[in-house]
Amino acid sequence: MNVDAKKNEPTFDIEKFLTISRQLDLTGLVLEDAKKYGLNQSEVRVLRYMQDTELYTVHYMKALMETSALADEEARAFLVNWGYEECYHGRTLAKILSICGHEPSRKSIEEFARPRKWTEVLQDAGGRLLSIISPDFIAVHMSWGAINELTACNAYTRMAELSDNPILAEVCRRIVKDERRHFAFYYQQAQRRLRASGLAQGMARVALRALWEPVGGSMQPRESRDFVGAYLFGDEAGRRCLREIDQRIAQLPGLEWFDLVSKHTNEGSARIERAGVPVDRPRTRPIVQA
Ligand SMILES: [Fe+2]
Ligand SMILES: [Fe+2]
Repeated sequence: MNVDAKKNEPTFDIEKFLTISRQLDLTGLVLEDAKKYGLNQSEVRVLRYMQDTELYTVHYMKALMETSALADEEARAFLVNWGYEECYHGRTLAKILSICGHEPSRKSIEEFARPRKWTEVLQDAGGRLLSIISPDFIAVHMSWGAINELTACNAYTRMAELSDNPILAEVCRRIVKDERRHFAFYYQQAQRRLRASGLAQGMARVALRALWEPVGGSMQPRESRDFVGAYLFGDEAGRRCLREIDQRIAQLPGLEWFDLVSKHTNEGSARIERAGVPVDRPRTRPIVQA
C-alpha cells in the first residue's frame, strides 16, 4: 500500500488495480505436481472452507452493489474485478483438492441454491435501507471488508508456512499478493469514510460489535469456522498474526477499541481444544520465496 506523505494516508490507485487485475497468476506452476505431496486431513478441511469462502464472495459483492457504494466510481470498478479474482482463488483451491484425490466442497453452490431464510432477507433489506438513509453506512461495509481481506492475507500466509505441500504453499503465496491489493482498497475506503463522519464511526462500532464474525463464518457451521481458526492461528505464531490484524484495524478512525479477530478466533480455538478435536498441524517452517 502506498502512503501519501503529506496526509499520512494510505492511497489506492484504481487505474493500477484495473491494469493488473487478472485471474490468479499460476505462471511456472504445475498444479498436478501437488499430487506428489498430498494433503493431510486438516488441510483438506481448511481448504474446503477457504474454497467456499472465496466462491461465496459473489454474495457480498451483490450486497455491496445494492447499496449506495455503487455511486462511488472507484468502488464500482473495484467490486467487479474483486469478484473475478476471488472466483479464481476458489476454483484453484478446488482444483488442488481434486488433484490430490479429495472431493472439493459443494457448500457454496448449495448456499446459492437454497431458499433465503427470512432473517437473511431482513438483514439484506436492512443493509440496503440503511445505506440509502445514510451513505455513511458504507463505512461499515468497507471496515468489514478490510478486516476480512487482512485476515485472508494472514490465513494464506499461515497455510503456506504450515503446509508440507510446496505446490499448495506457492499457490497460497500467490493468492496473498491478490489479497493484499484487496485489503488496500477496503482499508483506504474505510479510513476515508470513517474519518469524515462520527456517525459512520458509531455505526461501525455498533455493527461490528453486534454482528461481526470471522470470515466465512456466516455460511459454515461454527465448528468448521473454529477448526480453521485453530489450525491456522492456534499456536503462538498464529496468535501473533491475530494481534497484528487487530492492531492494524484499530488504527482506523473510531476503531481504536478493535480486538475482535483475536477474541473470536481464540475463543473458537479454545472450543476445539475442549472438544478434543485433533488439529493435525505440520511443522512451522519459514516461507521460502519462489
Ligand atoms: Fe481470495
Ligand atoms: Fe480478497
